[in-house]
Amino acid sequence: MEEILTVGRVAGLAGVSVRTLHHYDAIGLVRPSARTASGYRAYSADDVERLREVLAHRRLGFGLSEIADLIDDPATDAVERLRRLRGLLLEQRDQAAAMVTAIDREVEARAMGIRTTPTEQLRLFGAKLYEAIGSAYPATRRTEPRIAARVWDALGDARTVLNVGAGTGSYEPADREVTAVEPSAVMRAQRPRGAAPCVAATAENLPFEDQSFDAAMAFSTVHHWHDPVAGLREMRRVARRVVVFTHDASGAGWHHRFWLTRDYLPEVADLVAGRPPVDELARAIGARLEPVLIPWDCADGFFEAHWRRPEAYLDERVRRAVSVWTRVGAEAEERAVSRLRDDLATGRWAERNRDLAGLDAAELGLRLLVA
Ligand SMILES: C[S@@+](CC[C@H](N)C(=O)[O-])C[C@H]1O[C@@H](n2cnc3c(N)ncnc32)[C@H](O)[C@@H]1O
Repeated sequence: MEEILTVGRVAGLAGVSVRTLHHYDAIGLVRPSARTASGYRAYSADDVERLREVLAHRRLGFGLSEIADLIDDPATDAVERLRRLRGLLLEQRDQAAAMVTAIDREVEARAMGIRTTPTEQLRLFGAKLYEAIGSAYPATRRTEPRIAARVWDALGDARTVLNVGAGTGSYEPADREVTAVEPSAVMRAQRPRGAAPCVAATAENLPFEDQSFDAAMAFSTVHHWHDPVAGLREMRRVARRVVVFTHDASGAGWHHRFWLTRDYLPEVADLVAGRPPVDELARAIGARLEPVLIPWDCADGFFEAHWRRPEAYLDERVRRAVSVWTRVGAEAEERAVSRLRDDLATGRWAERNRDLAGLDAAELGLRLLVA
């Protein structure tokens, strides 16, 4: 028999007042559609599912009419909406991490007698991940020519190229007409002089007409999008060809593939849990998947880049240019770095990772999606 819940029970379980539930009922947002044995109105499983969506969106700051539009949208199903919700919550978590970073910086500055300006103080509220960490990016993030060649090759004969989540433009081909899209003002401001024109927008809402580019590319950015499938479909909508470089964190045991996540930073698994697996992303745009090996001397300092140069992860500059280290939080970062430092000093790291010494390139789950 289906479980039904009284108004009081639902209020108690969800941590909201009965008055709130009555209000949602009165405005037709969530109506208890069942009856208890004694004839009182009660919430069915479907009602609870709807209420849960409403409350989660409320917690994210959505207005009631906005929520009604979202959850009644016939173009989405429950799983899609849960995924979207999850993405929004992760975005909020990243925003909190960005605010913590900004506060730490201000505390440090104040300890040195430096007072932040009113503008800087107010920026804290708009702190987004890349607004907080973006300025550290160019120190170690640059074009890796062997991987760039793979991306440019996959672009085929495309003359006009849209680069989504473009950052500082490390992978923009110089011999084509490029338009960049980048939501972070800090990242946009760091684009080199003469770089392709850059539009402030997100992948999920590309401000371009259908099929307005020969190709659209996205490099190392999909994991930041709150709705990766929607972003990829947008790329597909505006371009005839789509090329995406991303990370495959699906399948059992993927986090054992790379010693850094396996032995030092298991928290990375929490960051990616629940995100659509790479084959689902590929399916969403009809893409084929190609593995991309990471050369041992990879020039772009992304998370896995230093797989054969472990000492690099002890360098604060290397870590600050990779969002994972901010997203896992300071405690996990300190623990991981101190363990790695010890293991390098005692030879334990070398012992455990003996098999890497002879490799020139490693398969650590990086993938090219080509559609
Ligand atoms: C790791 S950086 C990669 C930048 C650049 N593609 C590169 O390879 O150097 C990730 C970028 O994705 C951007 N980003 C975050 N959320 C986004 C979204 N929803 N749509 C498009 N870009 C986004 C960030 O602001 C950041 O610049």
